[in-house]
Amino acid sequence: MKFYMAPMEGITGYIYRNAYHKYFLPADKYFTPFLSPAQNGELRTRDINDILPENNREIPLIPQLLSNRAEAFLKAAETLRQYGYQEVNLNLGCPSGTVAAKGKGAGFLSFPQELDRFLEKICRGLETIGMELSVKTRVGRKDKEEFGPLMEIYARYPIKELIIHPRVQKDFYKNSPDRECFALGMKKSPCPVCYNGDIVSLDSLNEIRRQFPGLDRVMIGRGLLAYPMLLEQLAEERGSRDEKADRKRLRAFHEEVYQGYLEIMSGDRNVLFKMKEMWSYLIQSFQEGTAYMKMIGKAKSRGEYEAAVSAVFCDLDLR
Ligand SMILES: Cc1cc2nc3c(=O)[nH]c(=O)nc-3n(C[C@H](O)[C@H](O)[C@H](O)COP(=O)(O)O)c2cc1C
Repeated sequence: MKFYMAPMEGITGYIYRNAYHKYFLPADKYFTPFLSPAQNGELRTRDINDILPENNREIPLIPQLLSNRAEAFLKAAETLRQYGYQEVNLNLGCPSGTVAAKGKGAGFLSFPQELDRFLEKICRGLETIGMELSVKTRVGRKDKEEFGPLMEIYARYPIKELIIHPRVQKDFYKNSPDRECFALGMKKSPCPVCYNGDIVSLDSLNEIRRQFPGLDRVMIGRGLLAYPMLLEQLAEERGSRDEKADRKRLRAFHEEVYQGYLEIMSGDRNVLFKMKEMWSYLIQSFQEGTAYMKMIGKAKSRGEYEAAVSAVFCDLDLR
């Protein structure tokens, strides 16, 4: 089984990816949080920083683009090509209201004819510049019945890999991933399919494996942020558990992310905001962390934040 780290806007940027990759079982692939090119296809400095080869030295990284304009998408892809990337991932899954209202991300799924024309143009353009396309999709905007026709469109294009998160846009992250829809995707897709959605433990992975014996790749987001040792557990590479060593690794990982943000971001407030977002998941690595999470959430200075984090590492048992 191959394991991919899901793109998570605001969290899995290069600082996080590198720290994760250093301390835990490396993922087989990492995807950048979506890069959103301007109308003329230019990428923001922040986005360029996230894909710079020197910021991703050991990382098998696939840049992801969020766009519904073929020209802008291709211009951005060309920039990525110049930085050495050979594959680009198209985001057809972002459920955010503002993104969907502009007909991007999962919002693009409401316009199958436009999507078809867009795919035709970008596939032609990508071939010219020598790049491959992978797609990360939800199964519709409002209704899973949209997925059959969408799969017919995808099947017409030379997509290298199709990552399916079987929820519709209006679900956001509620309800359960729809396994029937995923089964349809696996059946209809001429290219390899990757499952994404709610894998948080060996049990949840095994359930998916039992239902889809031919599946050989999964993407994991929140489960991995909540428990960075998860891939070791899933890959069954971990012998007996060494709680002391895990705690040490988690602490070193936290320190690396924290120092990384302190170096590149201006203002402690911004750094604390980022760290709190990471902790909203990471606290689940510990047992009974609710009160401690409140303390982290309330921290207004580096001193308060560091004290709250120390308390977590000193007081709490790992899950
Ligand atoms: C805070 C947050 C940010 C996300 N950012 C992105 C993104 O930039 N690109 C993308 O394709 N998906 C994004 N996703 C969706 C995840 O990649 C993934 O599809 C989703 O969380 C379901 O997988 P999971 O249940 O393993 O977390 C985001 C999800 C969350 C919760």
